[in-house]
Amino acid sequence: MKKENDPGRYTVTAALPYANGPLHIGHLAGVYVPADIYVRYLRSKGKEVAFICGSDEHGVPITLKARVEGISPQQVVDRYHTLIHKSFQELDISFDVYSRTSADIHHETSSSIFKSLHEKGKLMEKSGEQFYDNKAGQFLADRYITGTCPHCGHEKAFGDQCESCGTSLSPHDLINPVSRLSGEKPEKRNSTHWYLPLNEYEPWLREWILEGHQKDWKTNVYGQCKSWLDNGLNPRAVTRDLDWGVKVPLENARGKVLYVWFEAPIGYISATRELTRDWEKYWKDENTKLVHFIGKDNIVFHCIIFPAILKAEGSYILPENVPANEFLNLEGEKISTSRNWAVWLHEYLEDFPGKQDVLRYVLTANAPETKDNDFSWKDFQARNNNELVAIYGNFVNRTLVLTNKYYKGTVPAAGALSEDDKKVLDNVLNIPNTTGERIEKYHFREALQEMMKLARTGNKYLADNEPWKLIKTRPERVQTIMYVSLQIAAQLAHVSLPFLPLTSGKLQKMMNLTEKPWSQLNQNLPLKEGDQVNKATHLFEPIDDKAIEYQYEKLARVKKTNSDAEQQLEPAKEPVDFQDFTKLDLRVATVLEAKKVPKTGKLLELKIDTGLDQRTVVAGVAQSYTPEELTGKKVVAVTNLNPRKIKGIESKGMILMANNPEGKLVLVSPGEDALNGAIVS
Ligand code: MF3
Ligand code: ZN
Repeated sequence: MKKENDPGRYTVTAALPYANGPLHIGHLAGVYVPADIYVRYLRSKGKEVAFICGSDEHGVPITLKARVEGISPQQVVDRYHTLIHKSFQELDISFDVYSRTSADIHHETSSSIFKSLHEKGKLMEKSGEQFYDNKAGQFLADRYITGTCPHCGHEKAFGDQCESCGTSLSPHDLINPVSRLSGEKPEKRNSTHWYLPLNEYEPWLREWILEGHQKDWKTNVYGQCKSWLDNGLNPRAVTRDLDWGVKVPLENARGKVLYVWFEAPIGYISATRELTRDWEKYWKDENTKLVHFIGKDNIVFHCIIFPAILKAEGSYILPENVPANEFLNLEGEKISTSRNWAVWLHEYLEDFPGKQDVLRYVLTANAPETKDNDFSWKDFQARNNNELVAIYGNFVNRTLVLTNKYYKGTVPAAGALSEDDKKVLDNVLNIPNTTGERIEKYHFREALQEMMKLARTGNKYLADNEPWKLIKTRPERVQTIMYVSLQIAAQLAHVSLPFLPLTSGKLQKMMNLTEKPWSQLNQNLPLKEGDQVNKATHLFEPIDDKAIEYQYEKLARVKKTNSDAEQQLEPAKEPVDFQDFTKLDLRVATVLEAKKVPKTGKLLELKIDTGLDQRTVVAGVAQSYTPEELTGKKVVAVTNLNPRKIKGIESKGMILMANNPEGKLVLVSPGEDALNGAIVS
């Protein structure tokens, strides 16, 4: 069972992107760029690697999008699968296979794993009530339903998750659930589903993760797992009443598909099967190290649920590590596909042709490894101009230009080495070690800094030694200086490979180098006296203000479009009789006390005096008012609503509120002399 520290074979997966939108820089910084660095490094070390990815093509968001656009779900995923795949290729992310979950091989693989679990008695069949939309004639799984989050009061939480507080939900948790298809209150119908009894895996998971991986998993990953485990695991349904997805392979399961989070991770296995007939060694051999690169919103699925599935099946290996990143923001705001607040990869590639490595560089230098981080176009420009151009590019260029000028491109013989020369050459041999160590720990920012250290060393070495001043008076000394500089430049070409593959390739070509295994980079200096280098061409070019302004204008247009859309008023409601209006008991009331509801960002617990009585109501206004601001205020309350429990507090009524231009809720206030308890009519 025990694995060697450094196995020869790796299966590296990168989260399958949803085929319901294009790729953006958040995806790249969080998952695909670090995964690609890791894989290129492993390959350079001579490891056998399968680098696996593909499109995640099932799930409710895709069917909802298809509905809105009046096309089929298959058409939606075909469109985005093609776009995403092409963008990955252009960015030079070096997947060994890029598959998709609508492929036959995935349907086959995932349904056979489900079947195998079913046959081994690892699943529980249970029937219970599910929400059903009578008008639309279908069950309302996951995101087909919205309502108020019981934890934070957010009114547009989904049936699987509240995007405001991040809590994972089931449709039954929602307060005031509404169908997103018809906008109506759903009814309940009976339906049978299959559950994975996660609770049974809890002791094993505790041991495997909490005891086995406390040291080597990132703290954010370990922390999320611990909190899930400490809260206790419950059986989880692995099927849904939907018609888009992998059909449940059982007789009595018409109209049911596998839950997308059950089958999508199996997509890694399907893709490996698509890659090679010899796929089992990547998934069933204890000497293979499995590593999942994901974003932080995927942690529970990759650390708890998928491992439990693999464990239940019994013949698969488990992940050795799950290096999840935090999120990347854009210009200080959360990236959002639906609000179009993103830098889209396909647009970047059009706006900055040939500058793939610049993006890889900036996203790695800024990677959200331990906390959320920010991407800004100003920083992008500065890192390109001040680091890639001014340090890396400038050093390489000067070295090659001078070598061509003084020696017709031939590497000169070194004379006696000074202490400083020796230190620099030691550095040349040592940087591959320090860079590799950081990569193996998934510290890609630090690894990139190590690589850049070499470029900085070179730049400083040339500036300190000024060979252009010595060429007339001390030509032998210049030979040594150029010999040392050329070694730095050549080593830079090798060490850049995982981070900047295009640049590394260009520089290797310029210097007539061939790829060298990473383990040999610290053995000998990369060049010998008499080796020949070619003419210098620029590796990087400055990015001017105009190009950056254009990007800022683009973002400004997105902001404008969003705020116009948000200002749009809701359509008028159906007429009602006056009789119906008078059924509501609306009264002037006074806030006596207010306090925050713990662990929610939005809710305040208010004690109000309605004239008739004093009672508690919970209101979602904590983002607009402090408790002190509200105390003593006159409000309008609906006093005859049936009470409901919010966060364990019984709320007896509602306070009237409306949106302000920033989308925050403000009180609808009666005049100051309105009488407490007076009917509002
Ligand atoms: N599509 C998911 C996301 O973008 C990731 C799926 S990873 C897989 O968040 F393992 F399920 F495939
Ligand atoms: Zn919430």
